Amino acid sequence: MSDIKSIGILTSGGDAPGMNAAIRAVTRAAIFSGFKVYGIYRGYRGLIADEIEEFSTQNVSNIIQRGGTILKTARCKEFQTAEGRQCAYDVLRRHGIDALVVIGGDGSLTGARIFGNEFSFPIVGLPGTIDNDLYGTDSTIGYDTALNTIMECVDKIRDTATSHERLFFIEVMGRDAGFLALNGAIASGAEAAIIPEISTQVDQLADLIKSGFRKSKNSSIVLVAESPITGGAIGLSERVKNEYPDYDVRVTILGHLQRGGSPTAFDRIIASRMGAAAVDALLDDQRNVMIGIKNDEIVYVPFTKAIKNEKPINHDLLATLRRLSI
Ligand code: F6P
Repeated sequence: MSDIKSIGILTSGGDAPGMNAAIRAVTRAAIFSGFKVYGIYRGYRGLIADEIEEFSTQNVSNIIQRGGTILKTARCKEFQTAEGRQCAYDVLRRHGIDALVVIGGDGSLTGARIFGNEFSFPIVGLPGTIDNDLYGTDSTIGYDTALNTIMECVDKIRDTATSHERLFFIEVMGRDAGFLALNGAIASGAEAAIIPEISTQVDQLADLIKSGFRKSKNSSIVLVAESPITGGAIGLSERVKNEYPDYDVRVTILGHLQRGGSPTAFDRIIASRMGAAAVDALLDDQRNVMIGIKNDEIVYVPFTKAIKNEKPINHDLLATLRRLSI
């Protein structure tokens, strides 16, 4: 049984819909189990700057449906230095905070791993990112909402693409991962997805053009993952203009609208389950683990695995997309 008495919660890195549902779940489950809870504002930057407030259950009322994060978020260079982390540790000690729950993506959990090891400080992570690029969980918090946003946007773009009989490259986020592009393409009935996971093996654009994808269609929509490996939507449209000048091509970059909006039921549910599980993990003396959900079961994934292991793309999905886009 753990001797932890008070837990700090922070959100860090890019915000993701469902982070508020996760903050609510951690706060309520922790108070339910007799812990004190502290909200830490602006991620690691706010931790170093001592932007900390004790939370009651009321602090997290009426937030489950809200996008963004009530705790605010930041990307913090100072936490990458030993001095910055020492300062963060001193602040935690001053408040009597014994453990941290960090909600964020790859970079945030990397910071958590280093800090946890350096100071033997108990930390549990929650995968909060629209990119879905953390290993060991089927879905990250925010991914499903972002996918739904992409689908709604593509549905709208298809109207104009069809009217003008144009080829559209629609760039979506994902950093170095193609999950949003691939599943967004399937959900919106797009003709193809160009993703970094296979960009080094094949020329996806040449393959697409060779497949004669326009023969049976009067418009074409291709989702492009934002990574430099794919060339991005602008890079690909430049290529089309030079190499295939017959195509009337346009580009839409969806950008940060993918990070906004009210979380879907799916994201609210996984955020609530994972938030409660983070408190169970601390009660259970777990350290330096990320909470994941695999095949509908809560799992503990060591930070080293969650961050370092490349989450593989499901090649069946690519094959399905190809078969359905004839
Ligand atoms: O990690 C989430 C994410 O939205 C990525 O998909 C994207 O590459 C990045 O963050 C954008 O970061 P920022 O909001 O700092 O520009």
